[in-house]
Amino acid sequence: GKPIIPYEEIGAETLSQLVDAFYARVAAHPKLQPIFPNDLSETARKQKQFLTQYLGGPNLYSEEHGHPRLKARHNPFAITPARAQAWLECMSEAMDEVGLNGMFRETLYNRLVLTAHHMVNESDSEE
Ligand code: HEM
Repeated sequence: GKPIIPYEEIGAETLSQLVDAFYARVAAHPKLQPIFPNDLSETARKQKQFLTQYLGGPNLYSEEHGHPRLKARHNPFAITPARAQAWLECMSEAMDEVGLNGMFRETLYNRLVLTAHHMVNESDSEE
């Protein structure tokens, strides 16, 4: 039957391609590029670990870095509503690029919308 663990449904290979496609867009986005490091390889490696466990796979992120505490880890960066929107646009385009669609895509995207909005720590006017 259909796998019930989202991580198994997407698979490690497609998840890795999704994260790479995502950070290629982040690196080129005028609203995001300024707050990210120039070399995104370590960021991408951590995001692959994080999304693996977010989707019910092995706890790769926590095993290496401890509890995600995502909101706290984003505190050093000005996460405005405009940047959250930009992050989500990059993710949506990356999902297009790797061919995610249907219910799986919709469910994952909707979860990421909530998580992205949760990261907002500054208003647009202060950007
Ligand atoms: C790290 C920005 C949303 C997961 C980071 C970093 C920045 C950033 C600047 C630091 C990169 C580095 O130094 O390597 C943003 C912005 C967001 C956002 C502008 C817009 C809302 C999210 C969401 C998730 C997420 C929704 C999870 C689904 C992570 C992870 C890290 C990270 C796992 C690595 C943390 C670590 O250093 O261990 N983010 N982020 N971010 N972000 Fe986000």
